[in-house]
Amino acid sequence: MIKLHNRDCLAVLAEMETNSVDLVATDPPYYRVKADAWDNQWTSQDEFLAWLESVVIECVRVLKPTGSLYMFMGPKMAASVERMIAKHMVVENHIVWIKPSGMHKRQCRASLRRYFPATERIIFATQREYSEAKAQHAAIAEACEPVISYLRDVLAGSGLSQSDVDRAIGVQMAGHWFGRSQWRLPTEGQYKQLQQLFNGRLTRSYSDVKTQCDALVNDATKPAKRHFDLDGREWFTDAWVCQPVQYYPGKHPCEKPLSMMKHIVTASTVPGSVVLDPFMGGGTTGVASIRNGRSFIGCEMEKANFDAAKARMAAV
Ligand SMILES: C[S@@+](CC[C@H](N)C(=O)[O-])C[C@H]1O[C@@H](n2cnc3c(N)ncnc32)[C@H](O)[C@@H]1O
Repeated sequence: MIKLHNRDCLAVLAEMETNSVDLVATDPPYYRVKADAWDNQWTSQDEFLAWLESVVIECVRVLKPTGSLYMFMGPKMAASVERMIAKHMVVENHIVWIKPSGMHKRQCRASLRRYFPATERIIFATQREYSEAKAQHAAIAEACEPVISYLRDVLAGSGLSQSDVDRAIGVQMAGHWFGRSQWRLPTEGQYKQLQQLFNGRLTRSYSDVKTQCDALVNDATKPAKRHFDLDGREWFTDAWVCQPVQYYPGKHPCEKPLSMMKHIVTASTVPGSVVLDPFMGGGTTGVASIRNGRSFIGCEMEKANFDAAKARMAAV
C-alpha cells in the first residue's frame, strides 16, 4: 500500500486512524536553516516549536503502541525539539549523524567564532503511555483474540462466573484467562483443571490452543514487542558516520542518504509494516520503505517536491 498526499501533513494526519502506523520516519523543516519558503513559515522559534509539537501529538496518536518515531533536526534547534518530543514520548536516543564531508570542509578556520556544525541530529522516540511490557500485553491480547474468544465462549456457555472459576482452580487468574487486559494462556495443568470444571465443553486440547497462540504471537506482521533489530549492523551506537547525498540535478536540498533511511526502516519495522513520513521532500523514506516491502504513507506540501518524490517512488 502506497498513499501519497500533496497536502499539509496536519490535514492528512487529522484524517488518519489512531494506532495505524508502525513507524514515523521524518525530516521536518529545521526553522530558518534553508532559504526555501517551507523553512521560513514561522516568525519565531516558539511559533515553530508549537507547530512542530502539534505534528508530534498527531504522530503519537496515529502510531501503534509498539510504534517508533525518528525525527531529523539541525543541531541548533535540537535541544528544544528534543525537550518538546520528551513531553509526549520516551526519547530513547539522540543520534548524531556525523558528516565526513560538507560545508565544514570549506570553512576558513581563522574567521570562525564558534565551532562549525558538521552534524545533524535524529531523535529516536517510542510511545510513552505504553511501557514495553504493556505494549507486549496489548499486542499478545490482540494477536490471540481467536483463542480468547474461544475461552470466553466456553465460560459463557458454562454458566460459571470468573469468581467461580477462581474458587474452583484455587488461583486468582480467571480475569487474565477470560479478559482482554493482561491476557494469559493458562498453564497446561490449569487448562486440564478447566477442562474438568467445564465438563467437556473445553474440547480443544492444550497443545492445539498453545500452538495456535504461538503462531499468532510469532506472526511477523503483528510483533508482540516493538520491533528493534540491530543484529550485524554498522550503526548500532548513537553516532552514525555517513556521507551526505552529493549534488545531482533534481536533488532535494535536504535529501537524506538512502542507506540511512533503509537502516531506520529495517531496524524498527518488519515487512508489511506501515511507515509514515509527514514531510517526505524528495521521497527518500518512501523509496527505502517500498524497496524493503513496507507500506508507505507520505505527505509533501510543495507540488514540485511532491511530483519528484512520486516519480522517484514509481521508479522503484
Ligand atoms: C527537510 S525536507 C525533507 C527532505 C527529505 N527527508 C528527503 O530525503 O528528500 C522537508 C520537506 O517538508 C515539506 N513541508 C514543509 N511543511 C510541510 C507541511 N506542513 N506539510 C507537508 N510537507 C511540508 C517541505 O516542502 C520539504 O520538502
